[in-house]
Amino acid sequence: DGWLQRTADGELQAGPHSLLALAGEYGTPLYVYSREAIEATWQRFAQALAGRDARICYAVKANSNLAILALFAHLGAGFDVVSGGELARVMAAGGDPAKVVFSGVGKSADEIRQALTAGIGCFNVESLPELERLNQIAGELHLKAPVSLRINPDVDAATHPYISTGLKENKFGIPHSQALAAYRQAAALPHLAIRGIDCHIGSQITETAPFLAALDKVLALVDQLEAAGIAMHHLDLGGGLGIRYDEETPPLPETLMQALFDRLDQWRPGRVPQVMFEFGRALIGNAGLLLTCLEYLKDNEGHHFAVVDAAMNDLMRPSLYQAWHRIEVVNPGDAPVVTADVVGPVCESGDWLGKRRTLALPDDAVLAILSAGAYGATMASNYNTRPRPAEVLLDGRHVRVIRERETVADLMRHERRLKI
Ligand code: LLP
Repeated sequence: DGWLQRTADGELQAGPHSLLALAGEYGTPLYVYSREAIEATWQRFAQALAGRDARICYAVKANSNLAILALFAHLGAGFDVVSGGELARVMAAGGDPAKVVFSGVGKSADEIRQALTAGIGCFNVESLPELERLNQIAGELHLKAPVSLRINPDVDAATHPYISTGLKENKFGIPHSQALAAYRQAAALPHLAIRGIDCHIGSQITETAPFLAALDKVLALVDQLEAAGIAMHHLDLGGGLGIRYDEETPPLPETLMQALFDRLDQWRPGRVPQVMFEFGRALIGNAGLLLTCLEYLKDNEGHHFAVVDAAMNDLMRPSLYQAWHRIEVVNPGDAPVVTADVVGPVCESGDWLGKRRTLALPDDAVLAILSAGAYGATMASNYNTRPRPAEVLLDGRHVRVIRERETVADLMRHERRLKI
């Protein structure tokens, strides 16, 4: 969040941009992203990987706005997609399909056809039936499908259970114990070309150890596979690196990369295959915030509520995961400080953005909910017939509207009123 500062009179600003003025001009709730912050983070990863045969495939689900995808494409990223829709976005944004990997447990026949026709770089296959389906469709199209198998390494990412994916009880991947047999089956299918191996153990991981544990499992498997005559062109180590929302201290990109590449270099000095990553949150999470206005300050027998105009439908993470996002008042002035739950207008008790926050709240307060660049806008819904927020990208001195605010007419567009 280094792109935010307070002015001498205490107002929160984003470089040359007044957040208060943005809220006034574009309305609230409003997602605000910083191009500079995105690029600075990207450069850190790029520097950590300099001189390596490595690629980052940005996980589109974190933030799939076309302008954001175009920015990552411009920076040289590949993309990790999990649906035909995400692939269409990458193509519309000018991304290179050859640098796309397609993950997910439920790829439909149509999505597989779309991705094969587009010429994506690799399918991260998550089950034996998916291998069969992919082989069949590739045969029909007279193509060879590039595949890697997503292995479930059965390591604990020590994160929230809803976003932990590398344990056997999770639906993801092929169990480590079945991997060799699955690769043998893939090698025997005529319309598949084995490219690599893949794993992803979860999200918002704040330690290096789980990444190393998963890597060790992957490397042991690669040794077995190569002994069985199945060569690996790449190792996809997934995403999952966490960010700082509160007091977390996730490893820096360079620290994590150093640890992983040290291990890889020990394993096969000078002969490490291409390494891929699928980071989402770590690339954009801290580069975005959600602006919202105070509507009412309520006092229910001493329990204070700051009712704001953003809600769980705009930013779902607090309701869904009890996630903590820092909340800053943009224009505290000399308003009195209260301890209040910051809640939205949606008719659910679970509609809160922050609990027991101590904030100086003038009547016309504008609040910034920080670290909302990842899994914010992409998870927004229209519950309570609330149009989704506009999104702007701060680009030097410019403010670019990268998504217009939805209208209620937009929301009703696909519905039919029958003659009753
Ligand atoms: N690759 C695969 C196969 C994934 O499933 C995911 C995320 C990623 C990469 C990117 O993970 P990241 O680097 O962003 O941690 N909605 C949740 C996060 C769900 C993540 C799902 N998979 C949240 O708001 O915390």
